[in-house]
Amino acid sequence: MRKAIIAGNWKMNKTPKEATELVNALKPLVKDAVCDVVVCVPAVDIANAVEAAAGSNIKVGAQNVHFMESGAYTGELSAAMLKEAGAEYVIIGHSERRQYFGETDFTVNKRVLAAVKAGLKVIVCVGEKKEERVDGYTDALVSYQTLIALTGLTPDEVKDVIIAYEPVWAIGTGLVATDEQANETIGVIRKAIEGKYGKDVADTVRIQYGGSMKPANVKGLMAQPEIDGGLIGGASLKADEFALVVNYDK
Ligand code: PGA
Repeated sequence: MRKAIIAGNWKMNKTPKEATELVNALKPLVKDAVCDVVVCVPAVDIANAVEAAAGSNIKVGAQNVHFMESGAYTGELSAAMLKEAGAEYVIIGHSERRQYFGETDFTVNKRVLAAVKAGLKVIVCVGEKKEERVDGYTDALVSYQTLIALTGLTPDEVKDVIIAYEPVWAIGTGLVATDEQANETIGVIRKAIEGKYGKDVADTVRIQYGGSMKPANVKGLMAQPEIDGGLIGGASLKADEFALVVNYDK
């Protein structure tokens, strides 16, 4: 049985002080969660979030990482820096990074390798745009994005990776993939992993759904057999709302 994992993606929201407040508000509300609970915060919020989360079941993650260990890369952050600041997880290849910051499948893979080497747990985002779904390329595209992202990892390392299937057309739009669409495409991703790494690895990897997931739709999505959790944007910015998502089983 795969343990579900619900992660908040705060994106470019919350100052360090607000991060402390949000994590403190969240702690009592999610303490009985049956799933892993993660908040992926702006890098400058990591220290505050980690301090506030101490002794609770909330883990802290970052939202991006550079692939080099150090050097002349002004403005970038290495995996070792994030780790030492207290991050346990990192989101890699979010569609907003692909869309606005020139992220490619190739650089996503480099970041995944650097993060795993440093001991961070990675959440790799894949997903199709609206026109790609309409044109019938979803399955090929998400399979390809997933396999490239994982290239160079050992099968054991792949087992620890978390994939977030986020149809780009569902992010921040209020449009949500139907439970069946999300389940089916996540099944396709799992098959692609099975084809390359075998059934044992594919059955172990946790694959989240992301894209306008919220209290109103979380139960239906989480009831799907292939869906192992969620990556939550908008609904992760308020403690009570995020807690309702995390406590989807209650
Ligand atoms: P959303 O964002 O929940 O606001 O759609 C999800 C994400 O981008 O990870």
